[in-house]
Amino acid sequence: MNNILGIILAAGEGRRMKSDSAKILHKVCGKPMIEHVRYSLRKALIEDVIVVVGHKKEQVKDYLQDKVKYVVQKEQLGTGHAVREVFNACDINSKYVLVLCGDMPLITDETISETIKYHIDNKFSVTIISTCLDDPSGYGRIVRNSTGDVVKIVEHRDANVNELNINEVNSGMYCFDADCLKSAIEKVKSNNSQGEYYLTDTIEILINDGKRVGARKISDSREILGVNNRIQLEEANKIMRRRINERHMLNGVTFIDSSTTYIEDEVIIGKDTTIYPNTILEGSTRIGEGCVIGPSTKIISSEVGDSVVINNSQVLESIIQNGTKVGPFAYVRPGSNIGMNVKIGDFVEIKKSQIGDNTKISHLTYVGDAEVGRGVNLGCGVVAVNYDGKKKNKTIVGDNSFVGCNVNLISPVELEDNTFVAAGSTITDDVPKNSLAIARSRQIIKQDWVTNREENYK
Ligand code: UD1
Ligand code: CA
Repeated sequence: MNNILGIILAAGEGRRMKSDSAKILHKVCGKPMIEHVRYSLRKALIEDVIVVVGHKKEQVKDYLQDKVKYVVQKEQLGTGHAVREVFNACDINSKYVLVLCGDMPLITDETISETIKYHIDNKFSVTIISTCLDDPSGYGRIVRNSTGDVVKIVEHRDANVNELNINEVNSGMYCFDADCLKSAIEKVKSNNSQGEYYLTDTIEILINDGKRVGARKISDSREILGVNNRIQLEEANKIMRRRINERHMLNGVTFIDSSTTYIEDEVIIGKDTTIYPNTILEGSTRIGEGCVIGPSTKIISSEVGDSVVINNSQVLESIIQNGTKVGPFAYVRPGSNIGMNVKIGDFVEIKKSQIGDNTKISHLTYVGDAEVGRGVNLGCGVVAVNYDGKKKNKTIVGDNSFVGCNVNLISPVELEDNTFVAAGSTITDDVPKNSLAIARSRQIIKQDWVTNREENYK
């Protein structure tokens, strides 16, 4: 919607977070708070967004890059001052201005869209999003007259005893007619307990100018949680986590215990997949249908096909194709592509390697910088010796090869297709197609050596 400008206020210090990082960059389910706000705006089709930055502005710009425009508020003289700086810095041509705080990560695109519609339908000059809280302390209160019309917003610190008893609070999100906001913001003064220019004072100003003002009360007060400290940050994470998990459940994913399952916002999971406890799915991870993931599994930015089982394992930035089983206790490191119906068993580490379909790597094996073909069997204790102390070298194992237990493949080295390597070999030379390689010293038998041990030692 190009007639609506979104302004996200994000210049405050966030002192109560006690952090070197900007408050609004603290993460909720893997994404900085301000990114959640931006996403919700984008989902509500508001692309034109200005972020007001001040404290730690370089960090904020580094993160958001050119996805938004910026206005710098040099001194943080209050939320009203922040909005005034936007009008001072830019020509605002949009008809409506939506103002949100960067520290309200739980706001949804539905609430944003519904608010805009409500605002336009009711022809208000400003619509405030409000909600009722059991404990409204800290928030600005919505003061209404005897007929229920909004009269003003009073900040907690400036409220009298009667006003403190009001439990309808200001969310910090508003939809304004741009021209009304422009004229009202000029008139905001700083005659309050904090000596700040409050954006909330525009409400009374607009009413005095004869304009209509509305407050839209939302029933799910969790949406407007403002994160000012790390207790509220944890709270926001909990609510967001539940929201994400519920979305997956409604899409056909089974959770054995969703309270111990941490799934970041962008993860996609197919139907009939089951997630066991203590599972963490992060980044751009995509999981197919009919998989069993967990318990105690961490998957970061990976692509997992259908009918895959990943048990007690870690998979990072890799691809696991259909029907493959990983774990228990496997570690798949970045850059790996594991084919279909593969078995990656216990205490197996795969790093930056391609593994062909139907290959079995069942136990105690290290495969790094390797290309392993289809239908291969790597026995227990195979090691791709990929590092010579200076650089990483490549190991190639051709299709249908069999590598016995406890074999070292000293790379660079290639086993061609259909080769067989005897257990205990240390392979330093390439093995040609269809051949057997044995690289170990022959066994010696010394008959009756034990019986005659005393004699032998003399
Ligand atoms: C504000 C509202 C309050 C509302 C609450 C909801 C005002 C005066 N009060 O209070 O009515 O109930 O949010 O959470 O608006 N910021 C700037 N520049 C500044 C000051 C603040 O950009 O000079 C930004 C902050 O970074 C933050 C947002 O504005 O993202 C809100 O500021 P904050 O200090 O958290 O306001 P509250 O006291 O929570
Ligand atoms: Ca706040």
